[in-house]
Amino acid sequence: MRHEDVRFKTFLEVSRIRRSCRIIESIFDDLGSFIIPGKSTNEIADFCKISMDKKFARSSILGYKGYPSTICTSVNSVAVHGLPGEYILAEGDIITVDIILNTDGWHGDGAYTYIVGKGNADILRLYRAAKEATNAGIKAARAGNRLGDIGFAVSNTAARWGCRVFESLAGHGIGLDVHEDPVVLPIGEPHVGLPVVPGMVFTIEPVLTLGSGKIRTMDDGWSIVTEDGRQTAQFEHTIAIFGNRTEVLTKPELSFGFEKNNPSPFS
Ligand code: MF3
Ligand code: CO
Repeated sequence: MRHEDVRFKTFLEVSRIRRSCRIIESIFDDLGSFIIPGKSTNEIADFCKISMDKKFARSSILGYKGYPSTICTSVNSVAVHGLPGEYILAEGDIITVDIILNTDGWHGDGAYTYIVGKGNADILRLYRAAKEATNAGIKAARAGNRLGDIGFAVSNTAARWGCRVFESLAGHGIGLDVHEDPVVLPIGEPHVGLPVVPGMVFTIEPVLTLGSGKIRTMDDGWSIVTEDGRQTAQFEHTIAIFGNRTEVLTKPELSFGFEKNNPSPFS
């Protein structure tokens, strides 16, 4: 990967992506009370579609490479790209909702995991680990670091919780296209890889499991499931890199600036 392949964003462009990301954040907030036992994944997709319409946002996934729905709903052993359908959520299920939407062609991307009803200890650990792994990746995503620092922080955090990441499921640049360079892997070595520099906008989206970390694609051509049937969890955020701070566009309170004694080379 090279910087020549990255489309760097101006402040104005970041503000357009921010607008999409804030809508995603508000939908995830609302889903917290909407997702309860007895709801079908179709109903969740409908709820998201209505929320997007109200904010004049459009799903970026519908029709993307032929994808047939407006969001992804990945339940239990589905790691990513689950299709909404008739399935009715039951107590103890774990579901990841992935939303990519755009306003005026500028995309934002986020995913959030919900435990349906009360989860058992394993599910709670998986959920917590997934959140911590993404947050650790975000903390490592600062001007002056490299992409390997992000993957290292993510996979290390997952391991500390007794979890694995799916190594091939990666984050990505985003902007006028849903998937742009760079590829942001959930594994890596410190101080290795493409330097993180101001103007980059990309996602961090590790998927975690308590199982083996092997996956296969189901017959529907989309759902990617765990080979061992174990459950998965994922938190995805879209972030923007600045010289003196990193902004989490899909969750502003996770944004951070640099301390005076540890500045970036760009500040
Ligand atoms: N956030 C996921 C990704 O960036 C969701 C993709 S859904 C797809 O890969 F339809 F676009 F594949
Ligand atoms: Co994504």
